[in-house]
Amino acid sequence: MNIRALAAKCTFAVIDQGRSLADELPKLQAKVEGKDKGLLQEITYGVLRYLPELEFDVRQLMAKPLTGKQRVCHFLILVGIYQIKYTRIPDHAAVSETVAATGPLKNRHLKGLINGVLRNYQRQQEKSGDDNKDAEKPDSVRYNHPGWLLKKIQAAYPEKWQSVLQENQQKPPMWLRVNKKHHEVAAYRQQLEAAEIGHNEPEVHSGAIPLTSPVDVNRLPGFADGDVSVQDGAAQQAARLLDCQPGDNVLDCCAAPGGKTCHILEYTPNLGAVTAIDIEESRLVRVRENLERLQLKAKVIAADAAAPDAWWDKQLFDRILLDAPCSGTGVIRRHPDIKWLRKASDIPALTVLQQQILKNIWSLLKPGGTLIYATCSILPEENCEQIKQFLAENNDAELIPLPEGNDSAEPGWQILPGDTGMDGFYYAKLMKKA
Ligand SMILES: C[S@@+](CC[C@H](N)C(=O)[O-])C[C@H]1O[C@@H](n2cnc3c(N)ncnc32)[C@H](O)[C@@H]1O
Repeated sequence: MNIRALAAKCTFAVIDQGRSLADELPKLQAKVEGKDKGLLQEITYGVLRYLPELEFDVRQLMAKPLTGKQRVCHFLILVGIYQIKYTRIPDHAAVSETVAATGPLKNRHLKGLINGVLRNYQRQQEKSGDDNKDAEKPDSVRYNHPGWLLKKIQAAYPEKWQSVLQENQQKPPMWLRVNKKHHEVAAYRQQLEAAEIGHNEPEVHSGAIPLTSPVDVNRLPGFADGDVSVQDGAAQQAARLLDCQPGDNVLDCCAAPGGKTCHILEYTPNLGAVTAIDIEESRLVRVRENLERLQLKAKVIAADAAAPDAWWDKQLFDRILLDAPCSGTGVIRRHPDIKWLRKASDIPALTVLQQQILKNIWSLLKPGGTLIYATCSILPEENCEQIKQFLAENNDAELIPLPEGNDSAEPGWQILPGDTGMDGFYYAKLMKKA
């Protein structure tokens, strides 16, 4: 299988057909072996990370982009330029492999054209480099984000927007969550050292361990026995902030794929009961798999969190985690397709959904109980604005300040992508007045 042909198909499916990278890439990776899976991932992620810039380069080389049955080869050209620009693959190999992909893509007649375009690009690079032309490019090209999102991030973070956008371009670290039922973090770090798996100091609040480079999970000591899980440092704050107590009745109302449900169960022994619900039955499969690997127990229900009458057993909850459906703008470095699949018009609908779930789930919380509202978004309208509105409309809700978020006048803790290596995330803690 030609890796470049698969990369072109994958990016074509995401950009032109609106498919999710998480759905498409694994299907194509299944067609290749070992290291080629990694190369396919590197190229597809790279093209999606740098799409506007690569499109800009193609426009300098071709009067019109390829369309119709040849359209997939437009993406093949992007794949070729990405390799020359950003990978250590020798240029001659990148070009010849890319040109050879026209065969499996059933566009062999474009061989000469693609060869010419890539050789031209290569020559231009050798002559002038690319960086000196940066000032001529619009911000959306320089920073590789869609214009609407760039504007929103500029408005929300007038002093930090450039660094946020640059962080979104980085390859994120792989983080580990040690199962505290099995090991202390220090003891597990010794096992990592023995296995020669490089890692940095754990994150200060959660004990989450960032690895120096990603490894296959099967290399992680005790993975199959549930000693450890893969979860970003920001996501690992939820269980700590929820601060469950033994005997508590806990609800995780947007639970799939179950990372936080499992962490809650690992974190506090002897919980009364944990209910994990998600609206998508198909996504609950992963929740069940995770619970099984970690030998944990929760009541798993496919249901709409905004319509509790259909599933709630009338037992109030001591703790609720609402990890709300959101724009995902905090996790673009892990899911670069978000930049192209998410549209400006999605945001108002998402904020309405978040409000509805928060409003309806609030009545399930015991007086004196606490709710953690979380998103993996960096947009204020999904985060601090949402919480301000909720507090204004609900007299029985009290904001519990989070010391981690103290440098902001806004409620909650906004983590930006790359803050101590973590994903962008938002947390607010609300207590129901007794
Ligand atoms: C951010 S993800 C949750 C991630 C999860 N908490 C974890 O840590 O693994 C949001 C989830 O909300 C679910 N969802 C969306 N609308 C919902 C609704 N009305 N009721 C319940 N779940 C919903 C989605 O299917 C998605 O799985």
